[in-house]
Amino acid sequence: MNSITDDLHAMREHYDQAPLRKADLNACPLKQFSVWLGDAVSAKVYDPNACSLSTVNSQGQPSARAVLLKALEDGQFIFYTNYNSRKASHLTQNPNACLHFPWFALQRQVVVTGTVSKIDSLRAEEYFNSRPLQSRLGAWASSQSEEVDSRESLEKSYLDAKEKFGGDPPKPPHWGGYALTPETIEFWQGGPSRLHDRFFYQSLENSWSIRRLNP
Ligand SMILES: Cc1cc2nc3c(=O)[nH]c(=O)nc-3n(C[C@H](O)[C@H](O)[C@H](O)COP(=O)(O)O)c2cc1C
Repeated sequence: MNSITDDLHAMREHYDQAPLRKADLNACPLKQFSVWLGDAVSAKVYDPNACSLSTVNSQGQPSARAVLLKALEDGQFIFYTNYNSRKASHLTQNPNACLHFPWFALQRQVVVTGTVSKIDSLRAEEYFNSRPLQSRLGAWASSQSEEVDSRESLEKSYLDAKEKFGGDPPKPPHWGGYALTPETIEFWQGGPSRLHDRFFYQSLENSWSIRRLNP
């Protein structure tokens, strides 16, 4: 075996933080999520609102990438992106998506599945206008997911946007948000002897079922 494989075999964490018990859970997984997000913030987890977004295209080909959760409103998880990007193309072909929050420093993960829809353009504009100027210009400069011939071309696009819009770039028409309406939310807390705690919420008509899953 090569040494990297030896190293990988030897990498092993012991999960020793407070367990998650059914009695501790909020009946509403969105409230439970807010508590855990708050814990991640308090613990100074790096990028606590970053998650992996998984999508699937019409051929069943999956892909994943990180996005930032920017709001939790009306029971929906909201993130922003470029509507011409690869992820947006996938979401047009198939609105089913998954968000994975990897709070490894807390020996926790949360996995959310559901369907997405585009958010209202005015709501996206409100958030867009609250972003730093560099990010707003960057949204104009990047044809996200398309090939760019060089770093210089990308930087030129940014300078062109700066020259065109100055200090007040409007929201690009191709930039906006998605709201994921959750159908399932799973909370995972690492435990000793690999006996992790997993609780799986499933959306019912007006409530949520909660089941404990084997680790
Ligand atoms: C920590 C982190 C946060 C990110 N947040 C976003 C985001 O909120 N929106 C976004 O469009 N891309 C974000 N990205 C970049 C994406 O991961 C991805 O590279 C980009 O959206 C293009 O993905 P696509 O080609 O699959 O559409 C983030 C990347 C990282 C590492």
